[in-house]
Amino acid sequence: MSKTTTDPRIERILFSQEQLEKRIKELSSWVNETYKNSKDLIVVGLLKGCLPFYAQLIKNVNVDLITDFMIASSYDGKNKSSGNVKIILDLVTNIENKDVLIVEDIVDTGRTISKTVSILKSRNPKSLKVLTLLNKPSNRVVEFEPDNFGFLVGKDDFVVGFGFDDEEKLRQLPYIGIIKS
Ligand code: IMP
Ligand code: MG
Repeated sequence: MSKTTTDPRIERILFSQEQLEKRIKELSSWVNETYKNSKDLIVVGLLKGCLPFYAQLIKNVNVDLITDFMIASSYDGKNKSSGNVKIILDLVTNIENKDVLIVEDIVDTGRTISKTVSILKSRNPKSLKVLTLLNKPSNRVVEFEPDNFGFLVGKDDFVVGFGFDDEEKLRQLPYIGIIKS
């Protein structure tokens, strides 16, 4: 059963539950194709924002994989990127000589993902790719191109829901929306 009511704090829905489901299925197919010959796939989710995307993505992945998670943050609990990226929670798995797929919620300025990629590359994985649900290329401060993404969003769209938060709230909404100002 899908929720039909929209949270009163939401101005408008950007991506509905149905749109997200459809696109994420396509991204699962991309993972299946990209890693069809891989024997050592580790899917690294960047918490907390990746959670709904990650869970939905791996349901339709038929390649053997190991799940692992990290918390890397460039936000000090506010909506502004500080430029400081900290690893708050590190992986459990040794990624040396493994195929690593990073699953991210959004690439915005590019700071968090660039820093995370350079940290993980220093551990000598066999390969490393980045899949992000949303991509905001018009807001880049650090040059970065994900290997694949779900949807493009505009520079001024601050999104919430489906993992995205406004000061840690609204992550549980089943759709992605723009918050009322
Ligand atoms: P970046 O380092 O600026 O690319 O920031 C990436 C992180 O900022 C994401 O992983 C999100 O946690 C957060 N973020 C960026 N844009 C939004 C947004 O529109 N809504 C909620 N969180 C966002
Ligand atoms: Mg994130």
